[in-house]
This record gives sequence, structure tokens and C-alpha cells, in this order.
Amino acid sequence: MTHQHNPTDENSDVTDVAAERVRIFDTTLRDGEQAPGFSMDRRAKLRMAHALEALGIDVIEAGFPHASPDDFNAVAEIARALRGPTICGLARCQTGDIESTGRALEGAHHSRIHLFLSTSPLHREHKLGMSKQQVIDTACASIERAKTLSHEVEFSAEDAMRTEPEYLVEVFSAAAAAGATTLNAPDTVGYMTPAEIAERFAYLLKHVRRDQHVIFSSHCHDDLGMAVANSLAAVSAGARQVECTINGIGERAGNASLEEVVMALRVRRPLFGVDTGIDTRKLYPTSRLLTQLTGQAVPRNKAVVGENAFAHESGIHQHGMLKHRGTYEIMHAQDVGMGETRLVLGKHSGRHALRQRLQVLGHTPDEGEMDIIFARFKALADKKREVHDEDLEAIALGHDPEATG
Ligand code: KIV
Ligand code: ZN
Repeated sequence: MTHQHNPTDENSDVTDVAAERVRIFDTTLRDGEQAPGFSMDRRAKLRMAHALEALGIDVIEAGFPHASPDDFNAVAEIARALRGPTICGLARCQTGDIESTGRALEGAHHSRIHLFLSTSPLHREHKLGMSKQQVIDTACASIERAKTLSHEVEFSAEDAMRTEPEYLVEVFSAAAAAGATTLNAPDTVGYMTPAEIAERFAYLLKHVRRDQHVIFSSHCHDDLGMAVANSLAAVSAGARQVECTINGIGERAGNASLEEVVMALRVRRPLFGVDTGIDTRKLYPTSRLLTQLTGQAVPRNKAVVGENAFAHESGIHQHGMLKHRGTYEIMHAQDVGMGETRLVLGKHSGRHALRQRLQVLGHTPDEGEMDIIFARFKALADKKREVHDEDLEAIALGHDPEATG
């Protein structure tokens, strides 16, 4: 039987085994910021970039320098300010884009130009009007130019997942020969399923010809709600860079959510056998910072960083949690920097959780008193979504909320 490690199991030593590293490429400031309602000015981007550096991000895609002067300046400022992560700028395979991205990255300690060009039949015909060979030639010429302007080059085959697999192998083999050291195969329109993604990455890893070490990268969109599952499937098949965003923000339905990818890799480490360099205790604060900077909240039930991610209201779950937190939690709130697990007192809660909360508040009612308090609590909980400490204090001191309304 496979060992099901769970970090809530304090005795497990599975995390001590050395594992391969998966690079986390954050594109919150580019693909994320590109989505309607999420744009950030230069100052906001710089604040976010510092938070991403503290989080332990390997590559920060700071923007698309040729898109606007403000984006150029944001990338340039971030490139000068940060020393830890690789700073990346996006560029089309066009001379103007490549030159300005190179200029924006000039001050970076370690820079990457991220080139992209569509490869799928639909995009070749309707968007680019290019033949298969023209796409390969354009990509290679751009990579060779970009190599002279940055420390490293990433090449993305836009709409890779709807590209003929044999042709994608040709494109990536040529890109690697031209000097790209990261080959990114995006699911640009969020079309794939995990099984398909795993098969495609396995195929690419097997067939793409490369003389130097290259890293295969995944970049999944969430149109069908599978971006995180698809990213994890790519990792299982050998991808060693995952492109993702804080809170999963991004074009249309968004990108793979960084916090979900990172925590899945950590919680299910024996399954994936890889590590990231992320300080997971900074996930929640970073998510909060992004909501403040963009004014866009995350849903309460969002995995890992939503307000309910570590909250329990039902009596059965609360009873279990009070006995052993592993009963209903696979990770701790502290693991993601969220403070404490919350046992929310509401109409679904039971006596055990109520007694525990009363004890925290300094009340130790006997069984008879507890019967009265519990009845009053239930009556109030039916009227309110959540019963707060002030309400409990009042009930414990003999106040009947039903009597006074
Ligand atoms: O989704 C996509 O294909 C992209 C590329 C530019 C990498 O964002
Ligand atoms: Zn994208």
C-alpha cells in the first residue's frame, strides 16, 4: 500500500527525503494583471514584487514592457530593486518587443526574456497568417536576438495544447537549438484534462531534441476549472516549472492558483516527489496584499486562502476537530500563514464546540447551566449567521437574547 503522508501527522519524516525542485514562475504581475479589474500601477506592482520575493518565487514575470510605458517602467523598477528571483519580461517574437524588453531588464541581477509565438493550426491560420516553417524561423531568430539581451530565454508556444504534437516537438527542438533554456507549453484556452496534459508532457520530454539542459514548463488557464489539476499533472509527467498566479487571477477564468499548486505539492509530497522553494507561511499574507492592491476579494470558500478554508461550523466536524485536528484538516492554518483554525459557532454547531469556546472565555458552566446556555445559543444561532464572543458572554451571564429580542 502506498504511504499516505499528511503533514498534520507530526511523526512523519517523509519531508526529509531529498526531492527534485519545481520552479515556481509567478505571472501575477503579467497574465494576472492583464485580466479586467486587476490592473495595478507601478507602485502596486513594486509592492507585490517585494512580497513575491519574500515568498520565495523563483521567477517573477514583472510585465509586458512593450505594452505600455508604465509597464516598461514597472519592469525596469522591479528589475533594479530585486536581487533574489529571476526577473522576466514578456515579449512577442518581434524586434521592437525584444529590444524594449531587453532594455527594461538591463538592471536585473538575473534576467529572462519570455518570448511567445502561437503554434496551433487555428492561430497560425487566423491570427498569424504564417506557415509552420515561418513560425519556426521567426521563433528561432527571436530567441537568438533575445539571448544577447538577457541572461536566459524562455520560449512559449502559445496554444501549445491545441498544436499538433509532432509539430510542437519540431518547434521546441528548434527553440532549444536556438538557445531557449525553458520551454513552456501553455494550455492557453484551458481546454485540456489532467490525463491529456500528462500524456502530452511525457511525449514532449521523450521526443524534444536538446543538447543542453532545458526545463519544461506548464502554464494552465482555468476555463474549465482544471488549471491546478492540469499543472499538477504536468509536474507528474516531468514539468519542472509551473507558471501560476496569486489567487489564480488571470485572463478570463484565470490562471492556475499558485497557493493551490504549492500546497498540493507539499501536502501530497510523497505522490509528486518534488519540492518548491516557497515559504508557505507567507501565502495568506501575499494573497491578502493582492486583494488590497486590486480591490478584488477572493471567495470565502477559495481553497487554501479563503476565509472558510480553515473554518468549521458543523457540530460533527467541530467535535472531531476538538479530538484530533487531522479528522477534518489536511493542513494547518499556520502552514499558510492564516493564524488559527476557526471553530465558527452557528446553527450547525454542537455542545462540545460551545463548551470549548465558553472555557476560552472563562466560563465553566455545570451540566444544568449548560442546558440553558445551549438552548439560548441555538435560538440565537437560528437568527444569526454566526454567534460571536460578545453574544456568548451575554448568554453565559444569564441574558436571554430571545426574551429581549
Ligand atoms: O496563456 C498563454 O499562452 C500565455 C503565453 C503568453 C505564455 O499567457
Ligand atoms: Zn496565459
